[in-house]
Amino acid sequence: MVAPTSSLDYNEIPVIDWQLSETDKPTFLRQLRDAMINIGFLYLGNHPVPKEVIEEVKRVAPTVFDLPQEIKDSIDMSTCMHFHGYLKWDGSNVKDGKDTREQFNFGGDRVCKWKEGEPEYLKLHGTGPWPTEEQLPGYKEVMLRYYKHVEDLSFKFTQLVSESLGLKPDELDQFFDPDHDNLQPRCKVLRYPGSTTETPGSGIGAHVDGSFLTYLLQVTDHRTLEVKNLSGEWIPVPPKEGTFVINLGKTLEKVTQRVLPATPHRVISPTGPPRYSIAFFSSVGTDVRLADAAKLKFPQEILEMKAARDKKLGNETEFQFVPKDYELAGDVVLARKLHSHADIAEKFYPALFSKIYPNGPPEKKKTGKKNYQE
Ligand SMILES: [Fe+2]
Repeated sequence: MVAPTSSLDYNEIPVIDWQLSETDKPTFLRQLRDAMINIGFLYLGNHPVPKEVIEEVKRVAPTVFDLPQEIKDSIDMSTCMHFHGYLKWDGSNVKDGKDTREQFNFGGDRVCKWKEGEPEYLKLHGTGPWPTEEQLPGYKEVMLRYYKHVEDLSFKFTQLVSESLGLKPDELDQFFDPDHDNLQPRCKVLRYPGSTTETPGSGIGAHVDGSFLTYLLQVTDHRTLEVKNLSGEWIPVPPKEGTFVINLGKTLEKVTQRVLPATPHRVISPTGPPRYSIAFFSSVGTDVRLADAAKLKFPQEILEMKAARDKKLGNETEFQFVPKDYELAGDVVLARKLHSHADIAEKFYPALFSKIYPNGPPEKKKTGKKNYQE
């Protein structure tokens, strides 16, 4: 295990042992705080998601990509108002980008509560398209079982993050709906095809996640995920058996007023066999406003750690909320997704489509956003 360090010049990502949270909580919280404030990435080992659930999902998750293209097209994201389903990136649908990957996005198996006349962002909640039982027996069941375990972990982990920052354990819970059925974390199965040339391409270019926290399970044994450390160097994040990789998203950065900054990362296209991974993105409730975080009061010790880090980085500008942080999170997230997926906007959100695209749909090439992952 790499001991968490307060140095900014790290070359490895620390492993935090979940079981310490039960046997030696002060040490766990101190390690967690140091990793999150000074590094922004960590491995979580000895976590409570059962090994058999992990093994099963690693075996089953990639099989969706082996389906015939016509079946994958039938569950394409463009068919889903909730932005779930299959999506293929072949370099043509990302602005200035050459990213190449396939992905299958899903959320909890929840009923859409949107009705005519209600806010459009309620359409974000709901079940997406799945392969049928005939096409891929048991797939949905296995994926939802995994999803539920990671979702449970995410709620517990968020409370530990809160505590590690000197807040009450439930203080960050105010950004999540107490009725978890109203939340819609998202899960994404990713396939990065092996590069056929000697020069590796881009699986996903440098970006930060829009999530609160991201829980990544690396399915295959590639060393192509890289994180940019605070000194500006790209550091590999190789798979480690029995761990999740956890990174900080833009929402958590705002909620903590940049005590915890979102971490840039990228995936290089592998050479040889494809790389598979499964990302779980926790997200705040759609009816919260991130600027309400202004009432969170961090202890002096935490603010001093942030100040020391920012000073070393030469980035001492004061954090400020921007106008959209005062809007409902659901509206902000929906707008971002509609800008990235004009086809879904046109089909399912006609009123918003006309506002965003008054001159009609954009050229397909220009609809994607390169540096922000949904
Ligand atoms: Fe990401």
